[in-house]
Amino acid sequence: MSGILQGKTAVIAGIANRWSLAYAIAESFSREGASLVLTYVNEKQRDTIASITTEMPVVKMIPLDVTKDEDIQGLADGLKELNCPIDILVHSLAFANREDLSNPFIETSREGFLLAQNVSAYSLVAMTRAVAPLMPSGGSVMTLSYLGATRVMPHYNVMGTAKASLESSVRYLAADLGPRNIRVNAISAGAVKTASARAVKDLTSLMEFAKTWAPMKRLTEPSEVGDAAAFLGSDLGRGVTGNILFVDAGMHMV
Ligand SMILES: NC(=O)c1ccc[n+]([C@@H]2O[C@H](COP(=O)([O-])OP(=O)(O)OC[C@H]3O[C@@H](n4cnc5c(N)ncnc54)[C@H](O)[C@@H]3O)[C@@H](O)[C@H]2O)c1
Repeated sequence: MSGILQGKTAVIAGIANRWSLAYAIAESFSREGASLVLTYVNEKQRDTIASITTEMPVVKMIPLDVTKDEDIQGLADGLKELNCPIDILVHSLAFANREDLSNPFIETSREGFLLAQNVSAYSLVAMTRAVAPLMPSGGSVMTLSYLGATRVMPHYNVMGTAKASLESSVRYLAADLGPRNIRVNAISAGAVKTASARAVKDLTSLMEFAKTWAPMKRLTEPSEVGDAAAFLGSDLGRGVTGNILFVDAGMHMV
């Protein structure tokens, strides 16, 4: 397997550290020949990302806090300066207040509900709107979702409602952008111990459950998510849009 993203430029938002799913995606994309543009939320994260991606073909790093319209505009402006089409946009980010991932769902505050929707779902719409004009001959947009979008998973709560909104946004964006040959999909990944996932109360027992009951009797490897993203970003995935692709050792059907 090599070179399926040769000559393509990919924007990846959501690397926090080596354990991030976005990092696994960057590894797969690098191996397959893509040039990378990476985003960061603050200077500390920029330094971390720079230190763990020294071996990767990173052509630019751009600040992006998705709650700020000026940052979304800054992303578009920064990409325009590259003077090349963008082929792939990866949205691998989410946020909810920690208490909303441990208290009963019924306790969710208006503020906490809207925060999760804003960062985790609306940001896909805003980022896609900013980047799509830079995909003149088509492209591939993808986001990361979780089974909690459609099933009740313990303590996933407000993030489940945000992922439901995210998955619906994938379908509406795919419908809008299909005529422009821009595909929009989600990868629904199995549970992986990342910084964000640790905010979900009792994550360990959820993962034990997945290990026992998933058809493949094991957890999801971040590299499997990275390789699925490479497929979606490549021309091999040219007929796939509006899809939720489960990369979860089969857990979604149990
Ligand atoms: N880890 C899992 O089990 C799992 C499973 C399925 C889906 N996902 C999804 O994968 C995606 C990536 O999460 P992860 O598990 O790799 O965790 P992670 O903590 O490594 O990554 C989350 C990223 O979101 C970014 N982020 C948060 N608020 C932001 C903001 N306002 N602006 C810009 N970026 C912001 C963080 O900086 C971080 O880089 C998320 O959408 C998550 O819901 C994770």
